[in-house]
Amino acid sequence: MNKNNIAVVVGGTGSIGAALANELKQQGFSQVVTLGRSSQPMLELTNEVSIEQAAMFIKSLAKPICLLFDATGILHDEQNNQMPEKTYKQINLSFLKKNFEINTFGPALIMKHFFPLLDSEEQSVFASLSAKVGSIADNKYGGWYSYRASKAALNQLIKTASIELSMKNKKAICVSMHPGTVTSKLSKPFHKEGLTIQSPEESAKNMIQIIVNLKSQDTGSFFNWDGEKIPW
Ligand SMILES: NC(=O)c1ccc[n+]([C@@H]2O[C@H](COP(=O)([O-])OP(=O)(O)OC[C@H]3O[C@@H](n4cnc5c(N)ncnc54)[C@H](OP(=O)(O)O)[C@@H]3O)[C@@H](O)[C@H]2O)c1
Repeated sequence: MNKNNIAVVVGGTGSIGAALANELKQQGFSQVVTLGRSSQPMLELTNEVSIEQAAMFIKSLAKPICLLFDATGILHDEQNNQMPEKTYKQINLSFLKKNFEINTFGPALIMKHFFPLLDSEEQSVFASLSAKVGSIADNKYGGWYSYRASKAALNQLIKTASIELSMKNKKAICVSMHPGTVTSKLSKPFHKEGLTIQSPEESAKNMIQIIVNLKSQDTGSFFNWDGEKIPW
């Protein structure tokens, strides 16, 4: 991976996104660009034009992307007082749609507009923050219908895209990642005793360690923060 090319963190205002951007700078990535709802240009996941314009901005920097980390996502909606469902009786169409809009459709549009900018001469990586609860094979407890389903669908997008990328840009690797349970606005309501909770900085360090050591055969995988592969 050529660290002199561009590293992009989408969701750089988030707890994990901000820590990823800082860690990338510390590890010698020379140009780290954060994009999100308060960046210039602005990137709003529900607005495809904003995603396209953000990609055009990166293209104007005239260097390929060596690493794109999508660190966006939602689990609950404070504004509308919506928490993850404990039972199918709580399924609510607007919350279900919101989870898919942010956790699935947004990352799909990021792929569409940013994949052409991935480095094709040296190894490049597109990594999306998914969640272990999006694993169907690992689903032991149920609940969290909207979040689980939106992350499972995100995982399918990543897997599908990895197959196409392996034909169109053999240097590009595409992976889903679980950051662990990490202190953040998103996870705060769900911290309980006995849970191992990492700081965003620890999680970012762990994930970047995995990213810089990826091999081409790892494309289309779902990685835990400790480097283990999670079954789909
Ligand atoms: N924290 C954990 O324990 C944990 C565990 C498993 C998976 N994850 C995953 O890790 C990722 C990051 O989570 P986090 O804990 O860092 O959460 P966070 O601090 O709440 O950050 C979420 C990020 O998503 C962005 N975002 C939300 N809606 C958006 C929209 N419509 N358009 C553009 N950006 C939008 C936010 O931007 P604004 O600042 O503009 O709101 C923010 O940058 C998520 O995908 C989450 O599912 C986290």
